[in-house]
Amino acid sequence: MSVIFGKLTWDAIPFHDPIPLITSAVVLVTVAAVAILVWRKGWWPYLRDEYITSTDHKRIGIMYIVLALLMLVRGFADAIMMRAQQSMAIGASQGYLPPEHYNQIFSAHGTIMIFFVAMPFVIGFMNFVVPLQLGVRDVAFPTMNNVSFWLTASGALLINLSLFIGEFARTGWLAFPPLSEKEFSPGVGVDYYLVALQISGVGTVLTAVNFVTTILKIRAPGMSYLRMPVFCWTSLASNLLILAAFPVLTATLAMLMLDRYLDFHFFTNDGGGNSMLYMNLIWVWGIRKSTSSSCPPSESTRKSPRRSRASRCSAIARWSSRPSPSASSPSWSGCTTSSRWERARTSTRSSASPA
Ligand code: HEM
Repeated sequence: MSVIFGKLTWDAIPFHDPIPLITSAVVLVTVAAVAILVWRKGWWPYLRDEYITSTDHKRIGIMYIVLALLMLVRGFADAIMMRAQQSMAIGASQGYLPPEHYNQIFSAHGTIMIFFVAMPFVIGFMNFVVPLQLGVRDVAFPTMNNVSFWLTASGALLINLSLFIGEFARTGWLAFPPLSEKEFSPGVGVDYYLVALQISGVGTVLTAVNFVTTILKIRAPGMSYLRMPVFCWTSLASNLLILAAFPVLTATLAMLMLDRYLDFHFFTNDGGGNSMLYMNLIWVWGIRKSTSSSCPPSESTRKSPRRSRASRCSAIARWSSRPSPSASSPSWSGCTTSSRWERARTSTRSSASPA
C-alpha cells in the first residue's frame, strides 16, 4: 500500500488535535452545504458553463477575485489565531496553541496572503480591466487563461488540504534552508509548500505570457502605446517582471526539492552546499514579485500624463489618416468595440478640425 499512498497513513489525519479536527469538520460541512444548495437550486450547469469552464476574461477575473476573497478569510482566520495566541501567552502561560501549530499557522498565513490573496487580486483585476481598456474581445490565449486560473486554484486547494491531511510547513513563508531541509523538516509540510507553489507558479507564468502578448500584439487599431491607459502600462511592467522572476522561483524550489528527495545538497552547508544561495535566489524572485503585485494598483490611481497640444495634434492627424477599420479587416481581429472606437474617431476628427 505504501507504493500507492507513500507517507499517507491514518496518522496524517489530526485526530489527536482538536483545533484542526474541528476546523476540518466545519469546513467539510460548509462545503457539503454549498454543494447541496447548488444542486438543489439547479445552479450547477450555469456555474459549470458560465464560470468554471469559461474562457471569458471578465468571468475569469471574477473567479480570481472570489478565490482571493476566500483565501483572505482563511488568512484572516490565521491572523486572528496568531494574535489571540500572542495575547494569551504571557508570563508562565503558554497560550492555547502548541509551538509547532503556531509555526504552521504563521507560515500558512504568509504563504496564503502573498500567493493566494495579493497575487490573485491583482491578476483578477488585470483580467477584468486590461482587455476592456485595450478594446479587445479577450486576452490573446483565452483557454490558457482558464488553465492558469485553475492551476492557481489547485495550489490554493493543496495548501488548505494540509489543514486536514498531514501538516503545513513550519518554516515561514519563504521556507529558508536549513530549516526546510529534510533533516530539520522531515514531515510533509515543506512538500505541501513546494508542490503548491510550483503548481500555482506555472499558472502565474502562463498569465504573464498571456498579458504580455495581449498588450504587445492585439490592441485595438488606433490604441498606440501613447494612448494606452496607465493601468495597461503598469500591467505590462508587472507581467514582464513576473516573466523575469517566476522562473527563478521555480528553479529555486526545484533545487530544494532535489535536496529533499534526492540528497543533492544545493543548500546544506554540511553536505557541501550553501544555504545563502537560497536566500539570494529567493530574493531575486521576491523583490521583483513585490514590485509586480504592487505596481498596477498603486500606479493605476494616477492619471495619464497630459501630452502637449502639439503632440496630441500630430497623433490625431496620424490617426485620422489611417484607413477606416472594417469588421472583415484582419487588423481588426478581436476587437468588440468598433462602434466605440468609431465614435472616438469621429469625435476626435470633429474636435480636431477647428484647430
Ligand atoms: C488582517 C490583518 C492581519 C493580521 C492581524 C496579521 C497578523 C500577522 C502576524 C501576527 C504575523 C506574525 C507571525 C509571527 O511571526 O509570529 C504575520 C506575519 C505575516 N503576514 Fe500578516 N496579518 C494580517 C494581514 C496580512 C496581509 C494582508 C498580508 C499580505 C498580503 C500578510 C502577510 C504576512 C506575511 C508575509 C507574514 C510573515 C509570515 C512568516 O514569517 O512566514 N498579513 N501577520
